[in-house]
Amino acid sequence: MELNGKVILVTGGGSGIGAATCRLLGKAGAQVIVADRAGARAEAVAADIPGAWGVVVDVVDAAACEAMVEGIRERFGRLDGAFNNAGITEVTALGGAPIPETHALPLEVWRKVLSVDLDGVFNCLRAEIPLMLASGGGAIVNTTSLQAHISYPRTAAYTAAKHGVLGLTKAIAKEYGEQGIRCNSVSPGVVDTPLTAGVIHSPQYKDMLLAPIPLKRFATPEDIAKAALWLLSDESAYINGATLAADGGYLA
Ligand SMILES: NC(=O)c1ccc[n+]([C@@H]2O[C@H](COP(=O)([O-])OP(=O)(O)OC[C@H]3O[C@@H](n4cnc5c(N)ncnc54)[C@H](O)[C@@H]3O)[C@@H](O)[C@H]2O)c1
Repeated sequence: MELNGKVILVTGGGSGIGAATCRLLGKAGAQVIVADRAGARAEAVAADIPGAWGVVVDVVDAAACEAMVEGIRERFGRLDGAFNNAGITEVTALGGAPIPETHALPLEVWRKVLSVDLDGVFNCLRAEIPLMLASGGGAIVNTTSLQAHISYPRTAAYTAAKHGVLGLTKAIAKEYGEQGIRCNSVSPGVVDTPLTAGVIHSPQYKDMLLAPIPLKRFATPEDIAKAALWLLSDESAYINGATLAADGGYLA
């Protein structure tokens, strides 16, 4: 894939899908910025990738996102790609406690999920776009989910946020395509990462979650990373405003 020498930012790069994407980008010759709220994890991932830079950032903090991109400008002088991937679920926001019915969801949990999963993507976009425009264009990929298309009970906040990211992706694609910025999303199915490990391996849920997946396995983080890499590369030069389902056929 055409990624050699490209400067590419990955948020949520310290774990799961983001970390796998950083590693594949590094192998493909990109200069990778590994950004995560967990700074030690970002630095650990970056340490194994030649020329990579590990950065601590909370995507909820718009000023921190701007400072991160300013750091990229100072260090690399340009930004060719961004994978806006950091995200949480209701389970994260509740610290592992059971998710109540939606009418009983604490407001702070609703706000926390929306602030990371939707506002966080916007905060990154508004910081990234000026440097991408100054770089002559670029490719943006946002991480959505099955829940940008369908829902499950007790996942209202996550579903609303991911539907929002799908719309935001289209808005950016329409507005900035003319200026050389493409914006797409990858829609992972059920992926085996620390975010889901507690649920997808539990005897209570495993078979239920596998049943609707035609390929009869959960995705690996690398399965999703490969889809993201293609959307970040020049191989997908005419793809704009689309979502690529990497879900083993679940949505079909
Ligand atoms: N795992 C799945 O089954 C699955 C399915 C569909 C979509 N997704 C989406 O994929 C993305 C990555 O998820 P994952 O499964 O790799 O999870 P993960 O928990 O393994 O990794 C997410 C990373 O994001 C970081 N992060 C969380 N909040 C942050 C913040 N405010 N600022 C900066 N970094 C922050 C975490 O520290 C973590 O390193 C998320 O957007 C998630 O919604 C995951």
